[in-house]
Amino acid sequence: MKIFLDTANLEEIRQGVSLGVVDGVTTNPSLVAKERKPFREHVLEICRIFEEQKIAAAVSAEVVSTDSEGMVREGRELAKWHKFIVVKCPTTAEGVRACSVLSREGIKVNMTLVFTPSQALLVAKAGAHFVSPFIGRLDDISEDGLAMVRQIVEIYRNYNFKTEVLAASLRGPLHVVESARMGAHIGTMPYKVFEQLFKHPLTDRGLEVFLKDWEKARESLGDILAPAKTGSR
Ligand code: E4P
Repeated sequence: MKIFLDTANLEEIRQGVSLGVVDGVTTNPSLVAKERKPFREHVLEICRIFEEQKIAAAVSAEVVSTDSEGMVREGRELAKWHKFIVVKCPTTAEGVRACSVLSREGIKVNMTLVFTPSQALLVAKAGAHFVSPFIGRLDDISEDGLAMVRQIVEIYRNYNFKTEVLAASLRGPLHVVESARMGAHIGTMPYKVFEQLFKHPLTDRGLEVFLKDWEKARESLGDILAPAKTGSR
C-alpha cells in the first residue's frame, strides 16, 4: 500500500518524506488555504521535497472551477507545472466530464469527494487515475466509510479497472489498516495519523529496558563503533 500525506504543510511533508515511506501528498483547497502561500510556488516546493529524495511521487493539486471547461483549463495548467502533479477534480457531473477530457489527454486525475460506489464506478469509466473515497466523513454521518471502500475495491476487481483506490479522510490507524486489508492501493492521512502508525507504548517501554540492560553491562560489552582489533572478524 502506498502512503500519502494529506497535508500542505511543508514541515510535515519533509518529516514524513525523510522516513522513506511516503509516496505522495494530497492537498485540497482547505489544506492549501491554511498555509497562506502562493499556490503554484507552494505545490512546486512540495514536488521538490520528493525530487531531492529521488522519489517519483504523486502530488494532488485541486481545481477550483465548478464547470467542466474551467476545470479542464485549470487541470491542463496544473499538469504543466510538474510531472508529479495529479489534477484533483470533484465528483460532480461537471467533474466527471472534465475527468474524461483530461484523462484522454494523458493527464492524471484524482477524483475526490467520493461517497458512494456508484460515483466510483463512473469515475473509473471516465479514466480517473485515482478515486478518493472519503471514509471519515461518511462515518461522521453514521454511515460505514470502510464498507464503501470494500465495495469499490470489489467492483474495480470485477471489471479490472486500472483506477487506483486512494482511501481518504482517514481518521486513525484502524482506517489505514482496514483499507489496506481490503486492498486499497493508497491511504492518504493527516501527519498525526501517520505518526500513530508507528508509535506503540510497548515499543518505547521495550527499548527503554534494552538500553538500561545494555548500560548496566556496558564495560564488558565494548563499543559497537570501536574499530575491530586486528585478527578478529
Ligand atoms: C483527500 O484527498 C482529502 O484531502 C482528505 O482526505 C479529506 O479528509 P478530511 O475529511 O479529514 O478533511
